[in-house]
Amino acid sequence: MEYRISPLSPAHLPEVDAIEVLCFEDPWSPRLLEEAVTGQNALCLGAFSPAGELAGYLLAAYVLDEGCVDNVAVRPELRRQGVASLLLEALAGMARSRGLAFLTLEVRASNLPAQRLYEKQGYRPVGRRKNYYSHPREDAILMTLELRNETEDPDA
Ligand SMILES: CC(C)(COP(=O)(O)OP(=O)(O)OC[C@H]1O[C@@H](n2cnc3c(N)ncnc32)[C@H](O)[C@@H]1OP(=O)(O)O)[C@@H](O)C(=O)NCCC(=O)NCCS
Repeated sequence: MEYRISPLSPAHLPEVDAIEVLCFEDPWSPRLLEEAVTGQNALCLGAFSPAGELAGYLLAAYVLDEGCVDNVAVRPELRRQGVASLLLEALAGMARSRGLAFLTLEVRASNLPAQRLYEKQGYRPVGRRKNYYSHPREDAILMTLELRNETEDPDA
């Protein structure tokens, strides 16, 4: 299926909330989701089916030249079709065009599917945050994607 990636708006929040509850043991509340989508520095994207149904979403924001990915989720029945990859590729493109230097994220140490996804998109593990998550308590792996052009001369 072809998916269209476009920015999320408050009108998408009921669908975002429904997917969030399906995908996470400790889901964000509707109020937190609304704050993420309407935030001034939000970079929040949805993947839409040809019928306009939300298949998955990505919540991110930036401060100065640092972007932070807060959440990525795809409807269980639509996984392994490249939806999350499309969302992350679109985010990296937007972040580059805004001149951001890097994107960071935290992922549960046990969430190997998500770590594979991020590694395929070029994110590298750079640290571990002890007991970062609750419900259940677990360490986070901190991952970063460098956005600077690798052919640029750092001494220039
Ligand atoms: C993690 C998640 C977002 C992946 O979404 P997706 O649309 O299925 O991901 P993609 O189809 O783009 O997968 C890209 C690659 O990631 C890896 N991957 C994704 N899901 C995987 C799984 N269940 N097991 C192993 N590797 C997996 C694979 O390398 C995959 O490439 P391949 O299909 O060619 O092998 C989805 O499983 C999800 O919503 N999980 C619950 C919420 C979550 O854990 N979010 C991330 C933490 S914030």
